[in-house]
Amino acid sequence: MQPVQIAEGIWDVGVRDWSIRDFHGYSTDQGTTYNAFLIVDEKITLIDAVKKEFADQLLANIARVLDPKRIDMVVSNHTEMDHSGGLPRLMHAIGETKPVLCSAMGEKHLRLHFGAPLNLQPVQNGATMRLGKRSLTFLETRMLHWPDSMFTYVNEDQILFSSDAFGQHYAGQEKFDDQAGEAIMAFAQKYFANILLLYAPLILKLIDKVTAMGLGIRMICPDHGIVWRTDPGKIISAYARWSRQETANKAVVVYDTMWNSTRQMAEAIVEGLDGAGAAVKPMPLRAFHRSDIMTEVLDARAVVVGSPTLNNGIFPTVADLLCYMKGLKPLNRIGAAFGSYGWSGEAVKQIEVAFKEMNFKTVSPGLRLQYVPGAEAIASCRDFGRRIAEAMAQGQG
Ligand code: FEO
Repeated sequence: MQPVQIAEGIWDVGVRDWSIRDFHGYSTDQGTTYNAFLIVDEKITLIDAVKKEFADQLLANIARVLDPKRIDMVVSNHTEMDHSGGLPRLMHAIGETKPVLCSAMGEKHLRLHFGAPLNLQPVQNGATMRLGKRSLTFLETRMLHWPDSMFTYVNEDQILFSSDAFGQHYAGQEKFDDQAGEAIMAFAQKYFANILLLYAPLILKLIDKVTAMGLGIRMICPDHGIVWRTDPGKIISAYARWSRQETANKAVVVYDTMWNSTRQMAEAIVEGLDGAGAAVKPMPLRAFHRSDIMTEVLDARAVVVGSPTLNNGIFPTVADLLCYMKGLKPLNRIGAAFGSYGWSGEAVKQIEVAFKEMNFKTVSPGLRLQYVPGAEAIASCRDFGRRIAEAMAQGQG
């Protein structure tokens, strides 16, 4: 990627990863970027590095602006390997004794990843460092989304380098929000739903804290995707909304099927929901990736999950989805379980156990049907859909 000057003397020298399609279990259909930002001041500073495989490309990009050996220090906002994997190669090229600034937890975690060679220098939360005409302030953002995470803020330019926060897995030609347009919000939403949802309460606190500090934010530069330069308030507002976990009158119907009986049940439940006026999104697991399902769950009031019983348990794809969803901690949802079975039929109850673990209010009992549903059974599925819609309207299971 050609370096892009995002503000006077500040360059994005990061890289695009066109080909990645699986980011630790999250489908990245449009690839991603690993952004890194070069601040050219009296002390030349690089904010974040890139994935190990792209370290030489990062160095080549920096070389298009200045000799990488001129870099005086590196700031590592986050240890995860997509941003720090290239650090050893980078430091070897620019000088291994040069300081790498990080949070106190970052020091510990970078040490655990890379051993001794890096000259790690922890910075205190709120500490400020002068680069020349600019100064940086470091803000710890623990658990957003690793214990080591921090933001770096350029006081004079009012630019926030936000690490993963406000990012998107998107590797288009565009570099800024005004170039990418409204379409980028879907990528930001998917990113939030799959990376940050479980930290929603902490995000609300962080937004309050930053608001109370009165930091002007003219531009937000995340480490993935586009830079928010025209309307950074838009993504901050979206984060506040998503973190409050506000839901719409919408149900996501997720299912898998063995011999089409659970599929027929799902279709009838969708009809029931639709007939009762709820918005409904059918998402068969053979057609939708778990990460796209979570994106829809983000604002869904009801999560309706169907599974046939296989070997006395939940169908594996459904179990995968429930495990993934549980980790991301959606709150205040209504759950409803259904499924066809042959002789034992444990799946529905096991789905309900998963709902309980997620503190979902459950529309109970779940709907179990033996073998192939006939006309009467299909009518009961439509009725189940209507009952879910009623629970949604009342906001309860
Ligand atoms: Fe983009 Fe948490 O790494």
